[in-house]
Amino acid sequence: MTMRWNRALVTGASSGIGKEIARKLAADGTDLVIVARDTARLEALAAELSDVDVEVLPADLSVRSDTSIVEDRLADEDRPIDLLVNNAGFGRGGPFVENDLDVATDVVEVNVTAVLRLAHAASVPMAARGRGGILNVSSMAGDLVAPNSAVYSATKAFVTSLSESLHQELVDGGVTVTAVLPGFTRTEFQDRADVDTSDIPDLAWQSASDVADEALAAIAAGKPRVVTGRANKFLGAASRTMPTAGLRALGRQAMKRENK
Ligand SMILES: NC(=O)c1ccc[n+]([C@@H]2O[C@H](COP(=O)([O-])OP(=O)(O)OC[C@H]3O[C@@H](n4cnc5c(N)ncnc54)[C@H](OP(=O)(O)O)[C@@H]3O)[C@@H](O)[C@H]2O)c1
Repeated sequence: MTMRWNRALVTGASSGIGKEIARKLAADGTDLVIVARDTARLEALAAELSDVDVEVLPADLSVRSDTSIVEDRLADEDRPIDLLVNNAGFGRGGPFVENDLDVATDVVEVNVTAVLRLAHAASVPMAARGRGGILNVSSMAGDLVAPNSAVYSATKAFVTSLSESLHQELVDGGVTVTAVLPGFTRTEFQDRADVDTSDIPDLAWQSASDVADEALAAIAAGKPRVVTGRANKFLGAASRTMPTAGLRALGRQAMKRENK
């Protein structure tokens, strides 16, 4: 890592990619504000990372009043935050017509609305200071047209697009915005999404630690977007030159187990 951050706010730090990002930032001397719903897990992480100052900020980002508390923390000029990691997110697989609409709405609230509101809350003081970073954890799913993942994929398309546009707006003023696009990553995500990944080959998987390393390297290098992992990079590059019909077939293949 070449960029030093003073204090980072990481959402979804209680497990998976967010937890690994928090650990790596702490190892580099960055103070932290860690956000998620599971307070016990956040407290355990704070105890583990005792070499830096860690604030535990429990919040359910599907609840607007909780998100507002996190927004207020980002705007607090007495304890400035120079890196926001918008990582919290979840999905729920299955045919759209069978989706529970309340859950689907929560997916949009956490993956889109909270990301948007927190990015805005962070970017205003960062732009005024002329320095900062916003790392938005998106997904390769946002670039695919995938059945049985319609809502999740659409939320990630939003995150990637928002990030790349904001990067262009803010970078000359000293604020870097980076979209991170992982593929299959070994975390609690797949279980929570209720998706069967038993037929996904080992080669396709990355560890949360490797995704975290690539994410932090990308924002340190000022990149607007990074697809993590060699296999994903190849697939991502191919999908960008592929005709729409090919892209649709790839999405159908990736989600075929849901069609059984
Ligand atoms: N794993 C993959 O294959 C994969 C691939 C591409 C992109 N991603 C993205 O990577 C990001 C991190 O996911 P992960 O793979 O690390 O999964 P994970 O292990 O399930 O972690 C998800 C994190 O988000 C938090 N979270 C979920 N709902 C929340 C809510 N309502 N309010 C606050 N926090 C909430 C969880 O904390 P609590 O439960 O404690 O609230 C947890 O810390 C997500 O944005 C996901 O879409 C994952």
